Amino acid sequence: EKERTLAMIKPDGVVGNYSEAIRKVVVDSGFSICKEMTIQLDEDRASIFYSEHSSKSFFSSLIRYMTSGPVLVMVLEKDNAITDWRTLIGPTDASKAKITHPHSIRAMCGQDSQRNCVHGSDSLQSAEREISFFFDDKYSCETVTIH
Ligand code: CMP
Repeated sequence: EKERTLAMIKPDGVVGNYSEAIRKVVVDSGFSICKEMTIQLDEDRASIFYSEHSSKSFFSSLIRYMTSGPVLVMVLEKDNAITDWRTLIGPTDASKAKITHPHSIRAMCGQDSQRNCVHGSDSLQSAEREISFFFDDKYSCETVTIH
């Protein structure tokens, strides 16, 4: 059963020029990129996106990081997309990922537990919320061709 997830390349990934390398991993791993958009989040929008973390000690730092530059958001589609994308990106703490999951995307481009380069929806409910947070039309999924 085809599933959709929201993937995001965070500001450290975009600034560090990892977008093309990450897109290649995405496509080589069998995902279709349905939609993509580069966007600069402001404080209000970032706070809404991460509202479930609003009580955490790292929240203000997270918002500063996520508004520090543009992010690239993508709707990815394949069978089991949500779990498979989370597996591909690796654990939250990129410094640990470099040791325990050396082939993961976070090991490739992340730095620590905050600057971890990429995001992936953690459930079907999150995926639906996060996709509609960025994109109006959540039902059409025309594959984007990469040149
Ligand atoms: P992600 O799991 O995509 O969404 C929540 C984000 O909060 C997470 O990525 C990190 O960027 C950040 N985060 C999670 N845990 C910590 C932490 N312990 N310290 C700082 N930032 C964190």
